[in-house]
Amino acid sequence: MNYITSSLLRERGFVILDRHDQSKDPKEWLDLEYVNWKSSGDTRFAPLASATGAIEVDGFWSHEPPRADKDGVWIQSQVEKAPVLAARAKEPGANVGRCRVIELQPNTYADAIYNLHQDDNNRLNPQGTGWVVRGYYNLTDDPDSFLLLREDRYDPATELRIPLPAGMQVIVDTQRFWHATWHSGIEPRYSLITSWESGPELDSYIARYNGSTDFKNTELDAEMVSAAQDRVQRKLAERAEAIANKSTNH
Ligand SMILES: [Fe+2]
Repeated sequence: MNYITSSLLRERGFVILDRHDQSKDPKEWLDLEYVNWKSSGDTRFAPLASATGAIEVDGFWSHEPPRADKDGVWIQSQVEKAPVLAARAKEPGANVGRCRVIELQPNTYADAIYNLHQDDNNRLNPQGTGWVVRGYYNLTDDPDSFLLLREDRYDPATELRIPLPAGMQVIVDTQRFWHATWHSGIEPRYSLITSWESGPELDSYIARYNGSTDFKNTELDAEMVSAAQDRVQRKLAERAEAIANKSTNH
């Protein structure tokens, strides 16, 4: 593959920026218009930029003509409700594809690892241009919740657990990592997710906010992790079997 990438993201697949002072911002995410969209977990999305400027969240490759996750069209009615969030997404000056607030209901660790998936941000992305990565900016204060990142979907030993206090700003190569959020709170968790094109603009933004991969992973109880992993393997096997049966029993 021949794409422009950011060095820290190339190295570790993620970069953590300085914390944003979320306490001084209005809770704009509560004013936005949401659509139901099955992602990883019980979720709703409020798009700020979409493929056509309509309030929908489908991949840009699902539209006519299909295209890469770039050149998102800002949705005026949503940007008016959330000018601070839109400004944060535009601040790097890098090309923005999809930009949305995601609302996630509380879940369990086992739910989260069942939901692990890789994004498809670079589908149709022309070679020689910037690799699309995603900003995950936590809006609510969820210090006991984690963005889980695994290099190997089935191997908990590869798992990074990035805590999600208010103002946490992390940029992730979500096509490289299997990822999902474990949200252990009692209220929904809100996060601003933005697709950005890698390149000099994103690099200088990362440098401005002291982007770093220094990170102390949180340890979890080994028995809890292995019990959850076993449960997920069983559930995935059952689902695969159900799908196989369905395709043979007409
Ligand atoms: Fe994802």
